[in-house]
Amino acid sequence: MTEFWQLGDVAVRRVGFGTKRLAGADGSNSREQAARLLRRAVELGVNHLDTAAFYPSVSPEGDSRQFEGLDWANAVVRDALAPYPDQFVVATKVGPTRHGLARPDELPALVERDLGQETLDLVYLRQTGLTSIAEHFGVLAGLQEKGMIRHLGLSNVRIPHLEEARQIAPVVAVQNRYGVGFGRVNDAVVSWCGERGIAFVPFFALAADAREAGGVSQSDTIQDIAQRYDATPAQVRLAWTLSRGDHVLAIPGTSSERHLEENLQAADLDLSPADLDLLDSFID
Ligand SMILES: NC(=O)c1ccc[n+]([C@@H]2O[C@H](COP(=O)([O-])OP(=O)(O)OC[C@H]3O[C@@H](n4cnc5c(N)ncnc54)[C@H](OP(=O)(O)O)[C@@H]3O)[C@@H](O)[C@H]2O)c1
Repeated sequence: MTEFWQLGDVAVRRVGFGTKRLAGADGSNSREQAARLLRRAVELGVNHLDTAAFYPSVSPEGDSRQFEGLDWANAVVRDALAPYPDQFVVATKVGPTRHGLARPDELPALVERDLGQETLDLVYLRQTGLTSIAEHFGVLAGLQEKGMIRHLGLSNVRIPHLEEARQIAPVVAVQNRYGVGFGRVNDAVVSWCGERGIAFVPFFALAADAREAGGVSQSDTIQDIAQRYDATPAQVRLAWTLSRGDHVLAIPGTSSERHLEENLQAADLDLSPADLDLLDSFID
């Protein structure tokens, strides 16, 4: 399995880290615990961090759709890691606000939230409900021209959005939901990205249909496969994710050092073609 992918200027390890779960499911992890976990991730070789000002989040009732953003991940990332190591990508997202999707004119203020970088490495437009992303993406492209952002990505998008965006500015990464038996409407987006050398960065690769409620989605078949490889279901899900193409990057979210280590080891799990086919045939 290829270990690295050229994400903009940096060769990133294909297993990175998502900061959405830093607080733990009930929000009980402290900022200090979160900072320790982030530093441990870097120590173990993670050089692609996926974050957002509105992370971490908790799902108070375990509700798979509702969550509460705690709004501290970017400050913790900055305090724990800035100045960032060489060859490191901090990817952040803008779009969601407590009142829905930001208007285009509201985006610059959201981008300016402090990650301790003069030029942000990678900023995604995380959209919902737009037919055309041109106005929103155009604002981010303008900030890129001014030198505030190095690279741009899009999240929660379809191919027509991506084609529109590429008329405006280069796109280095796309972030949509995707996992074993989950979000397979995105198969076409995965291929489209691969054909154009664009990273596809799936979210909910572990949680799958549990979405915001988190945890690793349970399945007897995955459990059986995991047992045969002396691996865990999370590792099997991540190994399948990585098998979808060299341009597919994993960003598992966790609040636990043990899970972090387990997730990074998934890059070494080589599933047989027959097992990959079996996982591939899961349907939504
Ligand atoms: N663009 C978007 O709209 C969007 C949406 C959602 C997420 N994201 C990004 O994608 C990243 C990944 O998504 P996600 O964090 O929501 O979901 P995920 O990575 O699919 O799953 C995270 C859940 O799995 C658990 N987990 C992680 N590793 C585990 C392991 N080895 N064994 C058992 N449980 C494990 C975590 O709990 P523990 O804390 O117990 O490990 C957490 O509940 C996020 O962190 C965020 O950066 C983006």
